[in-house]
Amino acid sequence: MNSIFIFVIFITKILCYKPVILLHGIWTGFESMDLIKARIEEKHPGTIVYNIDRFNGWSSLDNMNYQVQQISDDFTNYTNMHLDGLHLLGYSQGALLARTILQANPNHTIHNFISLSGPQAGQYGTQFLHLYFPGLALETAYELFYSRVGQHTSVGNYWNDPYHTKLYMEYSKYLPYVNNELPSNSSQQFKYALTKLRNMVLIGGPDDNVITPWQSSQFGYYDSNGTVVNFMERDIFKDDKIGLKTLYQKKKLKIITVPGVDHYQWHLNMSIVDNYILQYLD
Ligand SMILES: *[C@@H]1O[C@H](CO)[C@@H](O)[C@H](O)[C@H]1NC(C)=O
Ligand SMILES: *[C@@H]1O[C@H](CO)[C@@H](O)[C@H](O)[C@H]1NC(C)=O
Ligand SMILES: *[C@@H]1O[C@H](CO)[C@@H](O)[C@H](O)[C@H]1NC(C)=O
Ligand SMILES: *[C@@H]1O[C@H](CO)[C@@H](O)[C@H](O)[C@H]1NC(C)=O
Ligand SMILES: *[C@@H]1O[C@H](CO)[C@@H](O)[C@H](O)[C@H]1NC(C)=O
Repeated sequence: MNSIFIFVIFITKILCYKPVILLHGIWTGFESMDLIKARIEEKHPGTIVYNIDRFNGWSSLDNMNYQVQQISDDFTNYTNMHLDGLHLLGYSQGALLARTILQANPNHTIHNFISLSGPQAGQYGTQFLHLYFPGLALETAYELFYSRVGQHTSVGNYWNDPYHTKLYMEYSKYLPYVNNELPSNSSQQFKYALTKLRNMVLIGGPDDNVITPWQSSQFGYYDSNGTVVNFMERDIFKDDKIGLKTLYQKKKLKIITVPGVDHYQWHLNMSIVDNYILQYLD
């Protein structure tokens, strides 16, 4: 009698993990997320994991709004199939994409969103720049990115040069809007879509070496001096532009800082999954 009861609890538990959607980073493809997928399946048996197979390799440089629109098709299907909820995890550029896919789909059924070292407040650093544009200098990259042509690339869409904010606001077609720095018809929707979350988990760390400043992974960024300002001191939080403050006040914003992790290790170092991620994949 007892063992049958325990068995039923066991089965219920297995069937209870919500599905998880994974979204890979720039340059690589969906297979770069295979380790995380396998780890989740191993530690939480029975979990359905959708690893989004779009914009792999070169095409990950396509502009962000286009990627959001295309991936939203898969996303809508998954959320329609799982009205009881799912979790969403994005890595690097995929973490920024994932967040803005939520904003584009306010009817989503995502419970927990996990951002694994994503440039949520933008990017301004030589090391990152030279991975994709080795011929560009940090100080003048804005001349390319803040132009019509430059906005055709994902990197241009979230290039946030703290010394050229005016041009950023004028030319950038993506980041100032999705962060509600510039108002749009979608501003309310963006905020609504994020404040619906049960948890927003922002994971990043000081030894990242690619996301610059690394605090961008938690919505911190440079001020006009080039001094890094913590997210709580920035307008995006203070004015609750996209709902971060609302989430924080409800204890739904989890800021996780992990030292000793290089950017290319976040999705390969399984202690990150074990220590910081699994608890949000209930
Ligand atoms: C979404 O679901 C519809 C209906 O089941 C299907 O026709 C379509 O191909 C799916 N789209 C994607 C991107 O999987
Ligand atoms: C969200 O769902 C409601 C009702 O289910 C529908 O009327 C509305 O158009 C949907 N919004 C979007 C943006 O899909
Ligand atoms: C907002 O919506 C109105 C009406 O649909 C439209 O005329 C206007 O161009 C939109 N504004 C922006 C900034 O998209
Ligand atoms: C610029 O730097 C000074 C000194 O570090 C600091 O007090 C100030 O708040 C910074 N930010 C701006 C926007 O001036
Ligand atoms: C793996 O992650 C742990 C934190 O969970 C960190 O201390 C360690 O340095 C990382 N190792 C590598 C090789 O990234």
